[in-house]
Amino acid sequence: MDHPDTAPTVGAVIERLKRQFTEHGVASPAEDARILTGGLLGLDLTALIVHADRPVSDDDEARISAAANRRCCGEPVHRILGARGFFGLDIRLSEATLEPRPDTETLVETALPLAREAVARTGGCSILDLGTGSGAIGLALLTGVGAATGVATDISAVALRTARLNAGRLGLADRFETVESDWFAAVSGTFDLIVSNPPYIPSGEIAGLEPEVRNFDPRWALDGGADGLDAYRAIARGAAGHLRSGGQLVLETGFDQHAAVIRLFDDCGFACRARVRDLGGRDRVLVLAPADEG
Ligand SMILES: C[S@@+](CC[C@H](N)C(=O)[O-])C[C@H]1O[C@@H](n2cnc3c(N)ncnc32)[C@H](O)[C@@H]1O
Repeated sequence: MDHPDTAPTVGAVIERLKRQFTEHGVASPAEDARILTGGLLGLDLTALIVHADRPVSDDDEARISAAANRRCCGEPVHRILGARGFFGLDIRLSEATLEPRPDTETLVETALPLAREAVARTGGCSILDLGTGSGAIGLALLTGVGAATGVATDISAVALRTARLNAGRLGLADRFETVESDWFAAVSGTFDLIVSNPPYIPSGEIAGLEPEVRNFDPRWALDGGADGLDAYRAIARGAAGHLRSGGQLVLETGFDQHAAVIRLFDDCGFACRARVRDLGGRDRVLVLAPADEG
């Protein structure tokens, strides 16, 4: 065991990782070095600065080195840590779940006021999260709206197990139900809000994605079929039968898919109520409702 005076400090370990990541061509070496070291030592970014001179034990250094080697082989930092922050929540990941993206917070920000309106109107809000993965969207909405209840679906039973684990850790299990389902196939009942971030990458574009995405996010969470729109077709076909009066859909799309998705829903009797851009200024979220309720 290193003597505390000779053991590397937190700051020195971060610097070493930064150099190692730079040599291996990791895209954001400094950020990844901080996230990985902080995540493994249980220190947030402020604590990393405050405790920069703290010695790192042999065991911790070995864990950090092993994790750094995985990062150099292309594994994303949050996959290595098995968790990522989403809308202020600590969301656990598994091999069956997509790593939730910051862009998806735009969907949550769009849906939250609609959920609160439903509560103001009816005293509650039932939310259906289609393709929930880790549960990130549904759980963020339930955290923000105490009177809401959620049903979360996925085609992957393993993803649903992770979503339930997250619901339990966040104290939301009593308002969060999961259903294994191919879109609406096993869903019963009607909802005030239907939310979804479905797979929307055209199949032919998967091979050209960044290796971090292509090799670590599950393919079925990314692949939207030949034109990327298969999931929207299924959701458009089934939505009318599962929306309450005054209900709305809030959907994430690819940055160039708004017009095509609006057309698909128009064919099924829905009108677009809002188009929302993400923080990068790209089209990202659609709000849709039955055209005859306009
Ligand atoms: C883009 S990921 C989104 C995951 C999560 N909602 C998020 O935003 O991080 C799409 C999700 O849809 C699920 N999925 C794929 N095909 C499905 C289907 N036919 N029926 C239901 N869910 C499906 C995947 O398992 C995955 O969890």
